[in-house]
Amino acid sequence: MKYLITGGAGFIGSHLAQALVARGHEVTILDNLYKGTRSYHTPLFQKVPFIEASVLDVDVIDALIEQHDGVFHLAAILGVKSTMDRSVELVETNLDGTRNILRSALCHNKKVVFASTSEVYGKATPPFTEDGDRLYGNTSKLRWCYAVSKTLEETLCLGYGLQGLRTTVVRYFNIYGPRAKEGPYAGVIPRFISAALKNEDMLVYGDGTQTRCFTYVDDAVEATILAMEEKVNGEIVNIGSEAEMSINSLAAVIRHLTRSSSSIVHVPFEQVYPVGFEEIPNRRPCTKKLATLLQFQPQISFEKGLEETIKWFKEEQQDA
Ligand SMILES: NC(=O)c1ccc[n+]([C@@H]2O[C@H](COP(=O)([O-])OP(=O)(O)OC[C@H]3O[C@@H](n4cnc5c(N)ncnc54)[C@H](O)[C@@H]3O)[C@@H](O)[C@H]2O)c1
Repeated sequence: MKYLITGGAGFIGSHLAQALVARGHEVTILDNLYKGTRSYHTPLFQKVPFIEASVLDVDVIDALIEQHDGVFHLAAILGVKSTMDRSVELVETNLDGTRNILRSALCHNKKVVFASTSEVYGKATPPFTEDGDRLYGNTSKLRWCYAVSKTLEETLCLGYGLQGLRTTVVRYFNIYGPRAKEGPYAGVIPRFISAALKNEDMLVYGDGTQTRCFTYVDDAVEATILAMEEKVNGEIVNIGSEAEMSINSLAAVIRHLTRSSSSIVHVPFEQVYPVGFEEIPNRRPCTKKLATLLQFQPQISFEKGLEETIKWFKEEQQDA
């Protein structure tokens, strides 16, 4: 089969591209390199066509979708810091980009797997089930703009589904692994590993008792590929692990595994996000649907996943 991956130069998209190529599929990557970088992917880009363009470019998107059997739509602006610093750009890019992809896929009768997020559950009570209610804070808290935009994008998927579009929505829960981005817009695992390897302070935002369920990228990719199967249609599926860990424990485990002398330092949220922040205390998926509909459960233990991730970060630092 021939697949288009939007956001394919990003963290999850690049792993997805590799996995599809390894299975003998043809892949085209579309990414405007807003966050993805060429350097991580030189070997991949030698194997697959790379189109440097935006999902906002309707003509490019439409021509590409027509030539492919299906679309994995991962391109997005994301991350808690982006919701604060770039809320307008985030909402407009994510919403308009997804609308462009869905309209074109409907027109050319191609299936779309849409990458959504556990953020859509907001402050609901875990475990989060796909058909459960969701709860968001006030719109003045900018952090909710990502959840709200992904919610609307899911609505577009389901709405276009009623018009005949074949689509599956996957809700990722804190994916980590090699190539997860470092820097101010990074997730917690890359931030901690990067600091630990440099023996710098590992900054825990808030009191660190908040919990997350981390999912290794290979597991997320495997489930994403299953979501493209024709028998799965018009569904929303959580992709994650039910194993919950506090951010304090995560910091301690990473410090131990990296043999780091870093201090674990707590920083108040107000200091990190001066306006509009609200923390989600616990986030845990119900994975029944993942097991029954996609017949998949995560295979990689947290220890193994962290070791692979740390190994990659070490190699990156050596090459730098
Ligand atoms: N990583 C996670 O834990 C996680 C959790 C929940 C949901 N998701 C979703 O999964 C998808 C992939 O996330 P990721 O972690 O790989 O993020 P990422 O930032 O590494 O990848 C996103 C890619 O989209 C590209 N992009 C941004 N705007 C674009 C545009 N206008 N046109 C084309 N490309 C554009 C970026 O350059 C980047 O390469 C996203 O849709 C994200 O919302 C990720």
